[in-house]
Order: sequence, then C-alpha cells, then structure tokens
Amino acid sequence: MSEPTRSGTMASQSPGEDVAEILIDEETLQRRVAELGAQVTDDYRGRDLLLVCVLKGAVFFLSDLMRRIDLPVEVDFMAISSYGAGVDSSGVVRILKDLDVPIEGRNVLIVEDIVDSGLTLSYLLRALESRGPASLEVCALLTKPERRENEVECRYIGFEIPNRFVIGYGLDFAERYRNLPYIGVVRDELVAET
Ligand code: IMP
Ligand code: MG
Repeated sequence: MSEPTRSGTMASQSPGEDVAEILIDEETLQRRVAELGAQVTDDYRGRDLLLVCVLKGAVFFLSDLMRRIDLPVEVDFMAISSYGAGVDSSGVVRILKDLDVPIEGRNVLIVEDIVDSGLTLSYLLRALESRGPASLEVCALLTKPERRENEVECRYIGFEIPNRFVIGYGLDFAERYRNLPYIGVVRDELVAET
C-alpha cells in the first residue's frame, strides 16, 4: 500500500518497507553510542558541560548519548536548515531556532546527526564560536568523508559511512523515516522521484 507524500513520492505505509539495506543495526548503534558516552564522560569530568542538539535529526542520538554520559550535563536545542525536502545541500544555512541560554564561558558540545558536505556544521561552529564559549567541540553520529566540501573538526564520530543517502534513527528523507530504530539506505526509486 502506498500513498503520495507532500513531496509526491510513493512511500510505503510501513517505513521499513522503503529501506533497501540496513547499514547499521540497532545493537551496533547502541554499542557505539555507549562508547561515545563513556569517552565524553572521561573527557569532561569535573567540568561544566552543555550539549547543544541540532534539531531535528540529532534528537534520537542525543537522548541515547546523554543517558550514557555520567556527568551533570545540561542540554539546549538549535534548529538550522541547509536542506529543502530533497537530498542535496542548498548551500543556504539559516537559524530557525536559536539557543535559550548564553554559552559564553561554557564547555559546549554540539551533537549532530551527520556531517555531509560540512556546510551546516562550519556555519554553526562559526556562529557559536563568536559567542565566546570556553570550549566548542562536535560529536557527530555519522560522517560521509567523500562528500566533504568544508573541513570540520569533529572530536567524536560514531561511524564513517559511504556516500549513500541514509534514513532512520533521526535521519529523514522528506521528513519521514526518523522513527526507524536503525540506520538504513532508502530505496533508489524514492530518491530518484525527487
Ligand atoms: P551538510 O551541511 O551537507 O553537512 O548537511 C548536514 C545535514 O544534512 C544533516 O544534519 C542532515 O540533516 C542532512 N543530511 C545529510 N546527509 C543525509 C543523509 O544521508 N540522510 C539524511 N539527512 C542527511
Ligand atoms: Mg535533515
């Protein structure tokens, strides 16, 4: 059963049916997130830590990651857009929702879902750096090194993945599929339609 989505694609009623291949399964994801949480705990012990989550894709990663950080962390959210409904970067980055708190003098760790071209993250790093944090680092679940246009320093990386469009565990295609519990590759037919 299919239904036309807003973007005109013929998506299935069950999101899993649009997955061509599972790239990172649930267990592998959770194991790596636990490792990252332990690393962050070691690195920031005794220091103040503010996690800055980039909406919406990083929400799932953030919620698992912060439960693996054994420190009194705070969290704030930012929404930025660099993409339309499709899969390619528009090159235009806008702040849709800014942080609620000032970050001057604080240790800030940006939690991101994926670094693709790097455009979004380099913009965000510049914007936050100008506010005078004590430290500013990045924790990204995924990176696609082949697609990089802007070099960005990521202190923590979950997985390096090949140049394929992925969905699930927060990552969307045309705003859907975020609720898949694993990282998968979307069916070619769906991407080709946009
Ligand atoms: P960048 O500015 O090209 O690095 O793009 C970063 C943003 O693009 C991410 O935060 C995602 O929202 C989105 N993105 C990049 N690659 C993918 C993908 O394979 N699947 C879903 N979203 C992606
Ligand atoms: Mg997105």
